[in-house]
Amino acid sequence: MADGYLNDETWRYFWHPVCTISELEAADRGRGALLSVTLLGTELVIAKTASGVAAFDNRCPHRSAKLALGWVEGDSIRCAYHGWRYGTADGKCIEIPAAPNGPIPRRAQAIKYDCDVRYDLVWVRLNGDADTSIPGHTAWDDPSFKCVLGPSYTWKTHSARRLENFTDLAHFPFVHPNTLGNAGVQTYLVPDMDFRTEGELHYRYAPPEGARKAMNSTGNLSPLKYTDYTIRLPFGVTLDLTLQNGERAVLWVWATPIDATHCKSFWFACRNADLDGPDQPHIDTQMKILEEDIDIVESQDPEQIPHPMDEIAVGPDKVSLMYRKCLYELCHAMENGGEEIHRYLTTERDNI
Ligand code: FES
Ligand SMILES: [Fe+2]
Repeated sequence: MADGYLNDETWRYFWHPVCTISELEAADRGRGALLSVTLLGTELVIAKTASGVAAFDNRCPHRSAKLALGWVEGDSIRCAYHGWRYGTADGKCIEIPAAPNGPIPRRAQAIKYDCDVRYDLVWVRLNGDADTSIPGHTAWDDPSFKCVLGPSYTWKTHSARRLENFTDLAHFPFVHPNTLGNAGVQTYLVPDMDFRTEGELHYRYAPPEGARKAMNSTGNLSPLKYTDYTIRLPFGVTLDLTLQNGERAVLWVWATPIDATHCKSFWFACRNADLDGPDQPHIDTQMKILEEDIDIVESQDPEQIPHPMDEIAVGPDKVSLMYRKCLYELCHAMENGGEEIHRYLTTERDNI
């Protein structure tokens, strides 16, 4: 398989956020918003036009200049090199300034991808054959919560490693001894896990007394009661935290695969108390925790999850083992096409 033990082709069948709406709008230098992003090694241009947001290969089919260097005109994108203009509905060329009397070659069409905006994020799917959906976001849809979008960040690791780090229960007292965990208070636990349709893995983490802290409604750390984890295959996770003081906080994250060795994480910190309080402490506390993880995760060699024989697992690595098992099974399903991926994600099964 390509890219190590898992085949990165598989992730092309899934929706991934590629930028925030504000990142896209910030790319507007007076000629419309065109932003170049990379998803699974494919360079894309995200365009905000009169009819909405659309995603194309960042390549003009004429002489291969980057479309992101061009500009938006109403419902179309104009290439900066020779001015060919492409409609955003289907990417077809609708104007060639140097040949105004046509005909326009049939192959003059920018490659277009599925694109949607949800949770103020721009989502792209490179291959629609598995009929996958954009992941849910419980707190976003719940009016009792306030959700704050954190700054997205890029790490030199595969999305699967990044996600695994987010779901890991045993690293708190070592990597986060003064923030999430407490040095010397071990947290090895083997939670029950269940698999839900749409590729969701769920488990509850109930730490021993004093073992774990979490962000409270003011952005400070206070004792955690338990966390409900919902992994959304392949690279998303929601942490629904209930604190000892009864407050809830929800962390939502998706690690988008830029390529085989880099991922960009998009995340929200949500709270159901102190809704009028300042947001910044929530971002700052979370960023501090993330900074504790980055060196460890980027040091993992290789960046991709390797063959099981190349690493060692013990019982409390259950979450990681189950997650990897699901990723592997998805890659296996992909070999038989998108429909098989869809079947895998929508099949009811016994708890794992
Ligand atoms: S390369 Fe784009 S118009 Fe020629
Ligand atoms: Fe961590």
